[in-house]
Amino acid sequence: MCGIIGYIGFRSASSVITEGLKHLEYRGYDSVGVAVVHQKKLNVRKDKGMVQDVSTKLDFTSMDGHMGIGHTRWATHGGVCKENAHPHTDCKKNVVLAHNGVIENFSALKADLASKGHIFDSETDTEIIAHLIEENMKNSKTSSFKEAFFTSLKSLEGSYALAAFAVDDSEERLFFARKNSPLVIGVGKDELLAASDIPAMLKYTKTFVPLEDGDVAILTKSGYKVYSLDGKEVSRKQMTVDWTAEMAQKGGYPYFMEKEINDQKHFINESLASDVTAAKSLIDQYENIHIIACGTSYHAGLMFSYLLGERGMSAQAYIASEYPYIVKPNKNTLVIAISQSGETADVLQALRYAKGCKKIAITNVVGSTITTIADCVVFINAGPEAGVAATKTFTCQLGIIYKIIYGKEKLESLSSLIEQMLKTEKKVKEIASALAKSENIFFIARGKNVPIAYEASLKLKEITYIHSEAYPGGELKHGPLSLISEGVPIIAIAPDDETLAKLFGNIKEAKSRGAKIISLTNNLDVQKESDFSIKLPELSSIDPMLYPFAMIIPLQLLAYHVSVLKGINPDRPRNLAKSLTVE
Ligand code: G6P
Repeated sequence: MCGIIGYIGFRSASSVITEGLKHLEYRGYDSVGVAVVHQKKLNVRKDKGMVQDVSTKLDFTSMDGHMGIGHTRWATHGGVCKENAHPHTDCKKNVVLAHNGVIENFSALKADLASKGHIFDSETDTEIIAHLIEENMKNSKTSSFKEAFFTSLKSLEGSYALAAFAVDDSEERLFFARKNSPLVIGVGKDELLAASDIPAMLKYTKTFVPLEDGDVAILTKSGYKVYSLDGKEVSRKQMTVDWTAEMAQKGGYPYFMEKEINDQKHFINESLASDVTAAKSLIDQYENIHIIACGTSYHAGLMFSYLLGERGMSAQAYIASEYPYIVKPNKNTLVIAISQSGETADVLQALRYAKGCKKIAITNVVGSTITTIADCVVFINAGPEAGVAATKTFTCQLGIIYKIIYGKEKLESLSSLIEQMLKTEKKVKEIASALAKSENIFFIARGKNVPIAYEASLKLKEITYIHSEAYPGGELKHGPLSLISEGVPIIAIAPDDETLAKLFGNIKEAKSRGAKIISLTNNLDVQKESDFSIKLPELSSIDPMLYPFAMIIPLQLLAYHVSVLKGINPDRPRNLAKSLTVE
């Protein structure tokens, strides 16, 4: 899982690439590198570390040249070190290449190339592609880089988005190829880019061409062409986005995550403006609904299944990577996939598994792969999300789900509800200080508050490294209660709704074993039992169906503030990446 970008035009390529890499860092941030060519001379600078640090240390932007590629890495093959950072080169330092994805047959290819005398500088699967192209150039009568690039792609198994060039190429041009990893061309005036994602290019253009699997794109100063693997030119649709470059900036906040939490009050309205008519009518036609997603999106999916269930419909949410092991969908099954990025490999492969079923995709990214697989697409319109921990995209996913089920009229107060809940921040900070040294934190809830408990627990563990679990309250007595001792924090999601009476019993069970109770509630009795309490709006001023929106905001803020208190960068938690294009 990595981010790639390439630039050809009139600007300093290293500056455009360095800037773009900052926006791609959510895809991986253990190492970074840039390669540019200037007057047929190659300059590669790379190291382990984050974009800001490495680019300053190695002075990326001082590299001359108007054409180049860059990469930000999330290690899969080979440890985190300078040698394994991309871009990689062949033996002659002529073929230069950056890659996002996994080459599954790399061991066999490497052994074959080694037997032909190739020497490798890294442990990566990527480097073998550069050597493979070098080998194929030797074998081609014309020594053509273009011909060797196409030939080499045919030997690769697995997934890739590739950016490459050859220093001694007959003309200045960049090559890109995609298979199961995202890649988009950005079309500017007298300049062209290509990158894993749109925000990396927003500063220069709003016109994009998403590539499809099997596409190869060649970018020169005068234009771009897209080919299929067999070398035939193909045409791909251009589209424009209305995202602004500012949307992809921090806007005065110290971290993207804080900005994105605060932005929810605006983006929920954008989300509710999305057209859900076609999705709604499909849902109404099916009796058997499977919802597939991962991570945060799975929690939105779980909420969807609770709400459809309440309406008497048979809907089941599945973790996408497990889906093929659990059920066999048939043509009477409607499959709904939820994915912020629209590129999560686990989700895409689960969708492909559901052959013959009608498919709805709920996603944030126009032109993403999921949009090419689904029969019906709903956009959540949350704008670009840069923090690894999903926040506004979760709320916007919920917004879409609620709109499908309840219609828009009932949701008009959502933006002001979110704004009201953002004001709990002072109390949240106080609780964050009390929790920052905890080793374990538990969340409990019941009914449709359970997906919120799961999501809050995921947020907390992702960015604070505190062990955290969420349970339906009824499950406490079936095991987790043995972990409760004096002072262990339990966060109870306890709005005054149909779940409260039983959850109150669970709170008492935990309290009598010494748990420290933190509640989110608008019930006085629960407040009295609590060591800390975040107030939900009075019953008279909130429609109970909107509780999930009210509850998730302070819980996102809680994870954020604990993270910051612990000196962690909440936007870039260790070992994680935002968009996972590997299974
Ligand atoms: C990764 C991210 C999560 C995200 C999940 C699913 O694990 O770190 O934040 O929820 O992928 O991503 P998707 O783009 O499919 O919603």
